[in-house]
Amino acid sequence: MKKFAYLSILLLISLLIACAGGAEEAAPAAEEVAAPPAPEPVKAVAQMAPTEGNSVEGTVTFEQMEGGIHVSASITGLTPGSHGFHIHENGDCSAPDGTSAGGHFNPAGVDHGGPGSEVKHVGDLGNLVAGDDGTAEYHAMLDYLSLNEGDPNYIVGRGVIIHASEDDLTSQPTGAAGARLACGVIE
Ligand code: CU
Ligand code: ZN
Repeated sequence: MKKFAYLSILLLISLLIACAGGAEEAAPAAEEVAAPPAPEPVKAVAQMAPTEGNSVEGTVTFEQMEGGIHVSASITGLTPGSHGFHIHENGDCSAPDGTSAGGHFNPAGVDHGGPGSEVKHVGDLGNLVAGDDGTAEYHAMLDYLSLNEGDPNYIVGRGVIIHASEDDLTSQPTGAAGARLACGVIE
């Protein structure tokens, strides 16, 4: 009888160990089922608001893609033709004329140019071209912008400016693009 009791306890202990082991093995499987969703694509947006006396507005979107940042803009209220389009140093649109946004974003301290120039500011996006109805669409894949915080070319928190005149892509330091019609902060 004593031996039977001893065997029973031994069996009970074996069962408890087996159960505990089973529970531990089950834990990682449960974590796999609750795996976090794929990371959201890195994206930033600037809502463009008109400066004083102007009616230019719209949205500029920056999206991380393979090979660079895809920039797209949809803008209304322009005069037909080309309008300088830049990222400026400061994400500050508080001045009525947009001058609070500062100069072109230029972390490397180089000359002004356009997206196709060998030498250019990080903020040089070229021109928006508006049709007769005053709207402009812009799409470009630019490998010199960054949405990675800590990168010198990181653009979040900077300003976007749309100008009255065409950026000639050569005049220093601004491309002679004239007054600022709309300003937005990249968020
Ligand atoms: Cu500008
Ligand atoms: Zn520039």
